[in-house]
Amino acid sequence: MMETDKIYCLDCLEGLKQLPDKSIDLIMTDPPYLIKSTRAGGHSRLTRSIQPVNNLLKENSLDTGMDPDVLPELVRVMKRINCYIWCNKAQIPDYLDYFVGELGCSFDILIWWKTNPPPTCNNKYLSDKEYCLYFRKGGYCQPTSYGTAKTVFHQPINVLDKQTYPHPTIKPLNIIKMLIENSTRPGDIVLDPFIGSGTTAVACIELGRQYIGYEINEGYFEVAQKRIQDTIERLEV
Ligand SMILES: C[S@@+](CC[C@H](N)C(=O)[O-])C[C@H]1O[C@@H](n2cnc3c(N)ncnc32)[C@H](O)[C@@H]1O
Repeated sequence: MMETDKIYCLDCLEGLKQLPDKSIDLIMTDPPYLIKSTRAGGHSRLTRSIQPVNNLLKENSLDTGMDPDVLPELVRVMKRINCYIWCNKAQIPDYLDYFVGELGCSFDILIWWKTNPPPTCNNKYLSDKEYCLYFRKGGYCQPTSYGTAKTVFHQPINVLDKQTYPHPTIKPLNIIKMLIENSTRPGDIVLDPFIGSGTTAVACIELGRQYIGYEINEGYFEVAQKRIQDTIERLEV
């Protein structure tokens, strides 16, 4: 068993192999999205404005989706299936096929509705939402109020966190924290195999949950380490 309250600079498939069966209470993760074309298309000023974001995702291998071998490993390490996976539209059918079709899980589709999406045009709708699929088979989920039971979160992209802890796809800490609190008890172990800038770890530290995280990219791993250290110092835990 790997030590908890640590993140590891590792390919998550390697990390997962070191975890025993049924050792994790919750998986909260945000794997690379599957983006078929990273060309924004068109030459207008608006479409040119989103091309740098797409280039950044491509340069950092953040447009290639998840290795399908990871999914059965996630299921193996969970005590009971209890798993939040952020994804884009193109990934929804595969995740539903696997967790609902093959494994018989119940599911929810949660949505972060962005108040400040980047502009687009050229026959496209705005990229103004992100999906988080929640799969469960016996997993714990107990929202304690009307507000924390909501499934749509209407809020802006967190520009300040992005500037302080540079990562192109940093998720809003308040949403991650609320979902973890809904689906774990104090002291539970949360795994994030694609931890990026460390949002899941920060949420766990603030909530008194244990965490294990993997990040393959050394630069992002350093960002996450710094963010975790800053959190520990801020809270003096
Ligand atoms: C979408 S980002 C996660 C962002 C994170 N939710 C946050 O708030 O900062 C996905 C991360 O997974 C990492 N990654 C990609 N493939 C990986 C792998 N095989 N093992 C571990 N990490 C991986 C990427 O480098 C990237 O930082």
